[in-house]
Amino acid sequence: MNFHSKAVHAGDRKRKAGTPIPVTTPIHTAASFFYDSLESIDKVFAKEIEGYAYSRYDNPTNAALEELVSSLESAHGSLATASGMSALQIAITAALIDRRKHVLAANAIYGATVKLLQQVFEPFGTTNAFVDICDLDAVQKAIDTEKPGVILMESISNPLLRIGQIDKIAEMARKVGACLIVDNTFATPALIRPLELGAHISLSSATKYLSGHGDVIGGLVSCDEEHFEPVRALSRIYGPILGPFECYLTMRGIKTFPLRIERQNQNAILLAQHLSQHSKIQTVYFPGLSHHPDQETTARLLPPNMFGAMISFEIKGADKAAIFAFFDKLKMIVPATSLGDVHTMALYPAIASHRDIPPKQRLRLGIQDNLVRLSAGIESIEDIIEDLDQALHESVAEDN
Ligand SMILES: Cc1ncc(COP(=O)(O)O)c(C=O)c1O
Repeated sequence: MNFHSKAVHAGDRKRKAGTPIPVTTPIHTAASFFYDSLESIDKVFAKEIEGYAYSRYDNPTNAALEELVSSLESAHGSLATASGMSALQIAITAALIDRRKHVLAANAIYGATVKLLQQVFEPFGTTNAFVDICDLDAVQKAIDTEKPGVILMESISNPLLRIGQIDKIAEMARKVGACLIVDNTFATPALIRPLELGAHISLSSATKYLSGHGDVIGGLVSCDEEHFEPVRALSRIYGPILGPFECYLTMRGIKTFPLRIERQNQNAILLAQHLSQHSKIQTVYFPGLSHHPDQETTARLLPPNMFGAMISFEIKGADKAAIFAFFDKLKMIVPATSLGDVHTMALYPAIASHRDIPPKQRLRLGIQDNLVRLSAGIESIEDIIEDLDQALHESVAEDN
């Protein structure tokens, strides 16, 4: 099946002889399952027959979502987790089990991921280093000197939208036996499928584009054959699984996700063009613009005319007060934390996604205090532009 068809059909309508087949996967809320003989459940535990025993291990609703996501990510197997952060935590833990406890991470990465590495993994003896993932020489040098067990990057980075060469980094990682984990939240499997490019694990915050309606917190870990069992085994012990209701909402969201992302991409292109010519905007960060530093990688790894639906921009001369005023003046665009929803959203990285990164380090990463991050929704482009323009007009002085 092609991508749009997989999104609608994969995982649904499991056949059981003689029973009616629901057209969409039901929400199985049962914590546990029983059989007509104890021997059967013994065989389920022993994996001699297919079945479910206890929902922390496995649940039919979760299994349907996981099959769907594996299909979209070209994965051997996937796990639905309680949040994007728990997806990161379980993926990194599983990858480090038999490897050197050193993580080489992209320096342009979600703030909470940095905290996870420094405040959760470091106290348990893991060390971390950070590198410019778009500078392949620097990555190779870091691999040679640091000998990481895990390399961690985002397919499109948050918030400056840099695009690393996953295929080349995967090659480097494989040469030294390191595991490449790609956080695919911003690109989504509609744009990039990291496992097809050689990564070992691709994960996403399902909270964002995949569920897409601002009503789910969830995560997804998609693995190659080597890493699926360790991830699944850890999950059975840790228990960070996604609840069946959220699995249902995520599956429901995914059915329209390829359509939504096309529209969001299209809106993002038009918004980036508009903002680039706006007198109150200093710089626009968007992979579809000719000055974006990763043009070649974008052309090589992303589908034609698909650049993701995130745009970041700096407002000319705006201090914190002007940025706050801009957010307060927005009428339709939702000034809230998150991204990838049907509604357009604006976020101020300095006080939200990158709040915990010290200001000097933030500036070194190129995240200025006048940077705004926008997640394009599916509304009419005229309305999004009108709202941005009026908020800029009302909040930023003309002579800035
Ligand atoms: C790139 C990226 N990865 C992971 C996460 C964490 O996802 P969640 O909030 O679902 O835990 C986020 C959240 O914003 C994110 O932007």
